[in-house]
Amino acid sequence: MGGGFYISKFVGVVGIVFGAGAVATVIALAVVYSQEVAKNEALSPTNGGSTIKPPVTTPGGSTVKPQITTPVIPTTAPSNEPWDKYRLPDTLKPDHYNLTLWPRLTVNAQDLYIFTGNSYVVFQCVKETDLILIHSNKLNYTKWGDDHLAKLSALGSTPAPTIKKSWIQPTTQFLVLELNGKLAVGESYQLDTVFVGELADDLGGFYRSVYTEEGEEKVVATTQMQPTDARKAFPCFDEPAMKAIFHITLLHPPMTVALSNGMEHGQYSPVEVTEVGPKGPVTVWRTSFDKTKKMSTYLLAFIVSDYDYINSTNDNVLIRIYARKKAIADGQGEYALNKTGPILKFFEKYYNATYPLPKSDQIALPDFNAGAMENWGLITYRETALLYDPKMSSNSNKERIATIIAHELAHMWFGNLVTLRWWNDLWLNEGFASYVEYLGANEAEPDWNIKDLIVLGDVHRVFAVDALASSHPLSSREEDIQKPEQISELFDAISYSKVRSSVFSTYLNTFAYDNTVYTDLWDHLQMAVNSTGTSLPTGQTVHSIMNRWVLQMGFPVVTINTTTGLINQQHFLLDPSTAGSVPPSDFKYEWIVPIRWMNTGLVQQQIWLEDKTGILFQLSTELNWWMMLLTLQGEYMKDSQFICIFSLSRAKYINTTLALRTTKYLRSEREYMPWESALDNLDFFYLMFDRSEIYGIMQTYLKYQIEPLFKHFGNITGNWTNVPTGHMDQYNQVNAIRVACSTGIEECQTLTKGWYSQWMKDPANNPIHPNLRTTVYCSAIAAGGAAEWEFGWDQFQAATIAIEADKLRSALACTKQPWLLNKYLEYTLDANKIRKQDATSTIVYIASNVVGQSLAWDFMRDRWNYIFTQYGGGSFSFSNLINGVTKRFSTEFELKQLKQFQADNSEVGFGSGTLAVSQSIERTTANIKWVAENKDSVQTWFTTEVPKE
Ligand SMILES: *[C@@H]1O[C@H](CO)[C@@H](O)[C@H](O)[C@H]1NC(C)=O
Ligand SMILES: *[C@@H]1O[C@H](CO)[C@@H](O)[C@H](O)[C@H]1NC(C)=O
Ligand SMILES: *[C@@H]1O[C@H](CO)[C@@H](O)[C@H](O)[C@H]1NC(C)=O
Ligand SMILES: *[C@@H]1O[C@H](CO)[C@@H](O)[C@H](O)[C@H]1NC(C)=O
Ligand SMILES: *[C@@H]1O[C@H](CO)[C@@H](O)[C@H](O)[C@H]1NC(C)=O
Ligand SMILES: [Zn+2]
Repeated sequence: MGGGFYISKFVGVVGIVFGAGAVATVIALAVVYSQEVAKNEALSPTNGGSTIKPPVTTPGGSTVKPQITTPVIPTTAPSNEPWDKYRLPDTLKPDHYNLTLWPRLTVNAQDLYIFTGNSYVVFQCVKETDLILIHSNKLNYTKWGDDHLAKLSALGSTPAPTIKKSWIQPTTQFLVLELNGKLAVGESYQLDTVFVGELADDLGGFYRSVYTEEGEEKVVATTQMQPTDARKAFPCFDEPAMKAIFHITLLHPPMTVALSNGMEHGQYSPVEVTEVGPKGPVTVWRTSFDKTKKMSTYLLAFIVSDYDYINSTNDNVLIRIYARKKAIADGQGEYALNKTGPILKFFEKYYNATYPLPKSDQIALPDFNAGAMENWGLITYRETALLYDPKMSSNSNKERIATIIAHELAHMWFGNLVTLRWWNDLWLNEGFASYVEYLGANEAEPDWNIKDLIVLGDVHRVFAVDALASSHPLSSREEDIQKPEQISELFDAISYSKVRSSVFSTYLNTFAYDNTVYTDLWDHLQMAVNSTGTSLPTGQTVHSIMNRWVLQMGFPVVTINTTTGLINQQHFLLDPSTAGSVPPSDFKYEWIVPIRWMNTGLVQQQIWLEDKTGILFQLSTELNWWMMLLTLQGEYMKDSQFICIFSLSRAKYINTTLALRTTKYLRSEREYMPWESALDNLDFFYLMFDRSEIYGIMQTYLKYQIEPLFKHFGNITGNWTNVPTGHMDQYNQVNAIRVACSTGIEECQTLTKGWYSQWMKDPANNPIHPNLRTTVYCSAIAAGGAAEWEFGWDQFQAATIAIEADKLRSALACTKQPWLLNKYLEYTLDANKIRKQDATSTIVYIASNVVGQSLAWDFMRDRWNYIFTQYGGGSFSFSNLINGVTKRFSTEFELKQLKQFQADNSEVGFGSGTLAVSQSIERTTANIKWVAENKDSVQTWFTTEVPKE
């Protein structure tokens, strides 16, 4: 079937992305669009958008000498008891906590890093009960005089019932207290505990991070509570709706710095504490913090370090950036300090709400699982996400820092001040922050046109995942999300990218220090609709429209027949034949879609598609498919079209070669956006075919296309001696070198090998510009042997800034030598070589290399048990690992191996990667079909299009 014929029959296909600039994601915007557009042009669819041994002072002033005991685990737990359920009963409500923690930064006699703590929580009984359940994980408790794990006292006139039985329920992570009588409704009680935990290097709860400074090994005690690890630091009602006030005190070695959510009060005052042990009495410092606002446990943070800081003030808010002393001395915190003030100010204006805390601390940690965490008043970051050095950082490193700071600061209101009631609504929190991060970063760097990148980044990610039958709706039912690992799963691309919205002022004011469910947001959007007179389809409300987007998974593909004006919607699935396996939906996989287009007068038009089919009035030629192809040639090109054309072709809505044709004009293209989205999309062709005979002709084709771009950048940079001025041009220069070198343009390879060997001769003077390092290192290491690799490894270990180390870490995966790749894979399981936080991403880097693919897959299968126990706790890394290692899978043999892997490890499990396993199977199945159906035509197409010598 010829492309032309196909088109004339099918006439035209339009994804809802077109012109909307912000997909499915931002349907809420359709509603308040007219109001927002005046405030913020970027949202305009028309412009394309775009923790022991306890301290001697025992809680409650008791002088009982506590004894450390092993938790009591009942062997025959009757099932279906309240303590076998994961959710807290609705009987008790915390009011405030008083918590003292003492992390030990050196190992004890048993060779363990530990923390000790004592805590009490004051709670109110809201429903009569004779049972207290409070979260606790991996903590050992000191028994009280009555031989129980906690002490209960009543704050009112009636005495508290005595404890009948107390134990730890490890599976559901509860400290359970059965009482000899009932707690009285309306009465307040105090529960005291003394405990010890391990300060492990597991990146969750209260954990340790280690680095070397001036030859000395230094330990940082730090925290990552989200989603369910506060219970690993102290016993607490660890659900987001259990907001309370926290009085926090840290004991720490003299001369170290203690930080928490609240401002430290007074000066550090050394307090002598006698520790029972071989070493005798020790002097420690006690730092107490101002009580927190009413807040959720997952936003708590406690850090003890030997760090330094720099500071400034912004409208009475103290801003501090903390990092390793060396990093601060080198000025690496300066960029973050410079940008935090303006971004905070921007959000205060955007939300119409002042920043609720007196200080905003941001701290860079050598070991940190996610990119950053929005702990209220003490945001934690990976070093690469906060520290900047103009001599070492690329423009993309800089952009990432500005964007992540903006994302985390956005959460100070949306997420922290107003919090989701339960994790099923995570998308509301993350989706929103993922959107406004662009606005905040744009404020910090107005010259970068960062907002243009929204489509490229987020939209593409959601497309890739949400188009699978094993996807999940934005909003899950509360009862479906219970176990800690299910909660981690939600932190995937979908929660992060699918929502955009606005009009939050009233929402934030109404729900400050409280919790919400997503429908509260719809209420506030509806209010905005009513007050602005925005029109909705007859009989529809914000709720009825939005429910279809959040309660059912996926998104529609809308097709338009440009002859008849008929429009039709269908559930978009990468593999349409999986339609039978998607769960039934109350909304029949129909959405209420605002369709927007521009008429010939370039005036924006909008109608609502409410049913399966509809009629698009005033249809004119500008929606013609061919016209869209033509516009690709001119300035009118919108990258969203590119993404869409390729996604549609993968899902068989349009012919693959038609999609490929859109790359033909690239030879004359110099702009970043179209190149980036084309390369992103061609990436799929490489994944499918770089182990087949098509690889050769694809390489020849792309080499031909990239040549002029490579020459162009050589010309405008004075033969590679300076960098282009524009942010996006700098990005495209990297694309030019990356693709030119990988497709075999000799001049490029000579250039990169030359730079790298110059550096090898004089390691103190790296001649490679920071922007180009990742790609130049990769290219040189790929072209080189053991010497180039070993030099890179030495430089990786010697790097004084994490962003430089990261560039080398990714480049080391580029070697074509299997033995080096296997050695590197082994390094990923040795925390002295590759930090735990980086292990999974390193394995994925290796799998991205066509030579490393099968090595990484074998390695992962072989070590699954170990990897799972060592790295399973983290929220992001698991699904990334599974998806990353299997993304090239496209043969029956690989599918069989994948299913075998799933079956073999069903007992060990996949934790937060469970969904990723089924998604990988589904993706592989779709890939097999796609390859079978397209291989020949793709081969023919490339063969025809390849320039004849
Ligand atoms: C917290 O408890 C300690 C004793 O454990 C006490 O000295 C301190 O005053 C309490 N803080 C508050 C704010 O109640
Ligand atoms: C807690 O008790 C268990 C069992 O006795 C022991 O293996 C573990 O090391 C203890 N943890 C700490 C931090 O003392
Ligand atoms: C920054 O900290 C220093 C030392 O604590 C203090 O003297 C200075 O006033 C602070 N500057 C600002 C702007 O808060
Ligand atoms: C931070 O701001 C100061 C004052 O404007 C400026 O001199 C310095 O270059 C900035 N530093 C960075 C890394 O942006
Ligand atoms: C901003 O907040 C002020 C005071 O809380 C209020 O009067 C004003 O109406 C708000 N503005 C908007 C646009 O909501
Ligand atoms: Zn976030």
